[in-house]
Amino acid sequence: MIVIEPRIRNNVCITAHPQGCAAQVRAQIHYVRSRGALASPKRVLVIGASNGYGLAARIVSAFGSGAATIGVAYERAGEPHRSATAGWYNSAAFQQEADHDGLPAWNINGDAFTEAVKDETIDRIQSKLGEVDFVVYSIAAPRRIDPATGEIFSSVIKPIGRPFRSKGIEFITGRITTMTAEPATEAEVAHTVKVMGGEDWELWIRRLSHEKVLAPGALTIALSYIGPELTRAIYRDGTIGRAKADLEATAKRLDAVLKTSGGSAVISVNKALVTRASAVIPGVSLYISLLYKAMKERRLHEGCIQQMDRLYRNFLFSGEDIAKDDEGRIRLDDWEMRSDVQQAVAESWEKVTTENLGQYADMDGFRDEFLRHHGFGMPGIDYSMPVDPTKI
Ligand code: NAI
Repeated sequence: MIVIEPRIRNNVCITAHPQGCAAQVRAQIHYVRSRGALASPKRVLVIGASNGYGLAARIVSAFGSGAATIGVAYERAGEPHRSATAGWYNSAAFQQEADHDGLPAWNINGDAFTEAVKDETIDRIQSKLGEVDFVVYSIAAPRRIDPATGEIFSSVIKPIGRPFRSKGIEFITGRITTMTAEPATEAEVAHTVKVMGGEDWELWIRRLSHEKVLAPGALTIALSYIGPELTRAIYRDGTIGRAKADLEATAKRLDAVLKTSGGSAVISVNKALVTRASAVIPGVSLYISLLYKAMKERRLHEGCIQQMDRLYRNFLFSGEDIAKDDEGRIRLDDWEMRSDVQQAVAESWEKVTTENLGQYADMDGFRDEFLRHHGFGMPGIDYSMPVDPTKI
């Protein structure tokens, strides 16, 4: 038994609290329940299911519409003197709550990029569900080993063509700084596309289809981001933006294939949110903390679970044609990109300094949410008590 406290290095929290993560999963379940039942597919595969948007989607499917879910994630279990990753506790908590409610759920822990994990998932679908009718692809990963060649690819977050220099924030200390990043090499661009682009999503869908575990009419979705001018050079026009463009092109290809059996592949452009993945992007932390302030003031703020709940109810399964932009994408970033919100953020961006931070940025909201993703700061948990890190 050990006392587990947040330990943060380079914007990454390397500890997580088992009971806090479980409480955070229960809070998301509670939110979905409070919104009432919804009708969506009943046999669901979520790839990247232990955290952020993927976890939220799994919760909406299971607890909003009673779906059976298979969740794939890549997480580290706890040891007697070392906490597990947050996602490991989240998956265990999800399973516990689903079991309690009689909702069929299976976790697969391993590298989704490998053939072995795809094989294991297909076996599980065949033996438990027969087919799946909805596949959510929500991976955010730093590296990928090519299953065909064994080559290792790493993603980088860099501008393309010229150096990036921008205001930024050290979100732990609240100090406004200048962030810089050198432009990516051609190889770095290609590697980032290989990791975060659409190739693995396509491999999954083609494999599921080939093994006949994708139901006729099945829907699949992956998540993209665009964002404002302020982050354009580092995000949408940078390496990660190239990967997102590739993901979006993949959606069009997959959609054409799935259409022949009445199915579809869709991109949802989601809102910028604090997650384990987004906290490490230079400049984006400052943007998010200004955005949170502007959106909370207008009562437009959403977290992962609110975004996913709205995606299901208002877009994917509303019973009407799915509203899409000119590029065929769902725009769940509609409130983030509202002109009054963006204008407020742009003005704050100009004015914000270390001294007046509280006036323009919701740094506390950012930090609280970051910590909550690791199970810290949840009400009702006594963090001074020793806990067993190997279970929730
Ligand atoms: P996250 O870090 O909260 O969750 C990532 C998930 O991927 C976890 O479940 C993790 O276990 C899983 N994962 C990572 N590597 C894996 C591997 N090799 N095998 C199996 N599972 C693996 O990330 P977040 O922020 O929820 O991102 C998910 C997607 O949403 C990404 O495509 C991201 O670009 C997109 N997105 C995120 C936004 C944000 O602001 N956070 C905004 C819009 C889109």
